[in-house]
Amino acid sequence: MIDQASHLRSIIKKNQQSPASKVITVTSGKGGVGKSSISVNLAIQLQKLGNRIIIMDADFGLANIEVMLGIRPVYNLADLIFKGRKLNEIITQGPEGIGFISGGSGIQELTRLTNDQIIGLNQSLCLLDEMTDIIIIDTGAGIGDSVMEFACSSDETILVVTPDPTSITDAYAVLKALDKKFEGDSVQFTIKMLANRVENYKEGKELYNKLSVVVNKFLKIKLEFLGAVPQDALLSKAVLRQMPVSLSSPKAPSVQALRQIAAVLGDYEITGSKQAGGIRMLFRNLIKGKTGR
Ligand SMILES: Nc1ncnc2c1ncn2[C@@H]1O[C@H](COP(=O)(O)OP(=O)(O)OP(=O)(O)O)[C@@H](O)[C@H]1O
Ligand SMILES: [Mg+2]
Repeated sequence: MIDQASHLRSIIKKNQQSPASKVITVTSGKGGVGKSSISVNLAIQLQKLGNRIIIMDADFGLANIEVMLGIRPVYNLADLIFKGRKLNEIITQGPEGIGFISGGSGIQELTRLTNDQIIGLNQSLCLLDEMTDIIIIDTGAGIGDSVMEFACSSDETILVVTPDPTSITDAYAVLKALDKKFEGDSVQFTIKMLANRVENYKEGKELYNKLSVVVNKFLKIKLEFLGAVPQDALLSKAVLRQMPVSLSSPKAPSVQALRQIAAVLGDYEITGSKQAGGIRMLFRNLIKGKTGR
């Protein structure tokens, strides 16, 4: 019988040699702070800058992104892993050429895969890498295991915070949990904070200053300021109409802010602030059930 483990290792090694698309994880401490809105609109802005984008919904159960994009995927990641569906069958085309993958129950079940399933998944992820420049992962809120794995294994992690006091304390809890995961690591781990639903840029920057004072005092992790998205009635209206605000109101204040943030993020992408190893490395860490750190 063929040694499955060595076969698996050689496939993974071979696949590692092709360039990886960048993975950006969007997370938060508290729920309902704007992760999905930011994922969708950031995706559109990054796409407009010439990137090929896939959004992956890793927030089990809630049909967040699909509602916002006004699409209805037929299959999800679990169908690819367990039911032999092909990668192109689980990618739903959204507006502006944005691709969407629903995680379904697939992500929760990653630690229970057989070798054959791991090989199949890895091959699909390899294809995904080839067809994409940036993969945006919209996670659930809080410090659940898989959210932590996503954050640790991504090229960039965006932490969405609003001026709501519980959003700030919950954001600190996430940073503290991540800090613990990276204890003893020689490389300093960086998180980018995005202030959402603020009155203006200044309020966003003050929110960042407040949080970073505590982070600098107690944690080793580095918190950078990515930018601020204002409270915007056009954004909430767009959500109700199941249309991304970037498309329904391209001049909306929130869209202008996200356009700037995408440009900054695009720069980071080009200079490559960190090489986390892309989507395949991320899934490998999820499959192992730990980041190996
Ligand atoms: N900048 C903003 N201006 C106005 N309303 C906003 C803004 N950002 C988010 N919202 C409102 O907050 C609601 C929740 O946003 P969203 O669904 O993106 O949050 P979430 O963090 O993904 O939530 P969950 O944790 O449930 O997945 C939106 O439906 C929208 O009405
Ligand atoms: Mg959401």
